[in-house]
Amino acid sequence: MTFALEVQNLVKCFGRVRAVDDLSFSVARGSIFGLLGPNGAGKSTTLKILTTLSRPTGGSASVLGFDVVKKPLEVRRRIASVIQETAVDLLLSVRDNLLTFARFHQLERATAERRAAEMIERFRLADEAGRKVQDLSGGFRRRVQVAKTFMVETPVLFLDEFSTGMDPLLKREVMTMLREEARRGRTIVLTTQILSEAEELCEDILIVDHGRQVARGDLSTLKLLSQGVYEVSMTFDSMPAGIESELQNLPTLRARIENNTLDLAFKSPEGHVLELVSSLARNRRVLRLEMNGATLEDVFLELTETAPAAGRRKEAAE
Ligand SMILES: Nc1ncnc2c1ncn2[C@@H]1O[C@H](COP(=O)(O)OP(=O)(O)OP(=O)(O)O)[C@@H](O)[C@H]1O
Ligand SMILES: [Mg+2]
Repeated sequence: MTFALEVQNLVKCFGRVRAVDDLSFSVARGSIFGLLGPNGAGKSTTLKILTTLSRPTGGSASVLGFDVVKKPLEVRRRIASVIQETAVDLLLSVRDNLLTFARFHQLERATAERRAAEMIERFRLADEAGRKVQDLSGGFRRRVQVAKTFMVETPVLFLDEFSTGMDPLLKREVMTMLREEARRGRTIVLTTQILSEAEELCEDILIVDHGRQVARGDLSTLKLLSQGVYEVSMTFDSMPAGIESELQNLPTLRARIENNTLDLAFKSPEGHVLELVSSLARNRRVLRLEMNGATLEDVFLELTETAPAAGRRKEAAE
């Protein structure tokens, strides 16, 4: 079996709200999969179904071949998760949270103790180790949840906005740890609102809105869906005379000259942009050249209804 996760026509209704509305996707083993979408898109609901915390209204989902409804215990044995609403046992201490989780996954006592000490150090929880989780700040609670997932070697990991409230340094470390885990063959399914995070981590991305798929693919595929806007910044040894008139003949969306730097935005197929840039550079001394294509954020805004541009398009259509 090559897939860690298989989801088919999944539906979840809350009264009249279709939180998940006919989603189908599969996730390859050992990959980092990102589920993205605006608030209320159905990301957490999907993860709750996949982690057996919630029952689907329709369709099916399986983790490593085990149906989440028919074989919940088999699923739970193979996963570790960080879900938005804290599932940590609030009344237990940080250390006991880690140990209890390890026990559920049948780690030997000695191994569990050793790993717990390791995670307490890695997640800088030494001063909190003996405190009840309910007495900790949000950021520290999140650390405990994430630390738990690294206690065990379950083949699949679910993380719902793992970095919420985490300081930037720790977040960096966790991202490195996640990449390591994926290299070792663990499958990681995560949601995030921070698109640069997904851009850095995920090789496979599903964008949802109103419970439905709006786009699916790897980063480069998704970026192709975007408008094809390229930003170019060129610094010359001195600004070439007559450049303004030259620019007037180019399909620029925006052009700005500041000292010796020319900032341009083009909307054009990539090959064409390269031609334009080289024509501007020809017979001139360029000290610095920077080109940026669309970011995942551009794609996201364009495809989901959070985009002001999409709103405008809709109005225009009415
Ligand atoms: N227990 C519930 N009862 C009723 N409605 C719910 C429940 N859980 C979720 N919903 C609704 O389902 C929809 C999807 O919610 P969900 O939490 O899955 O979104 P999300 O993509 O995780 O959003 P966010 O980015 O804000 O975390 C929303 O309209 C939400 O109000
Ligand atoms: Mg959510």
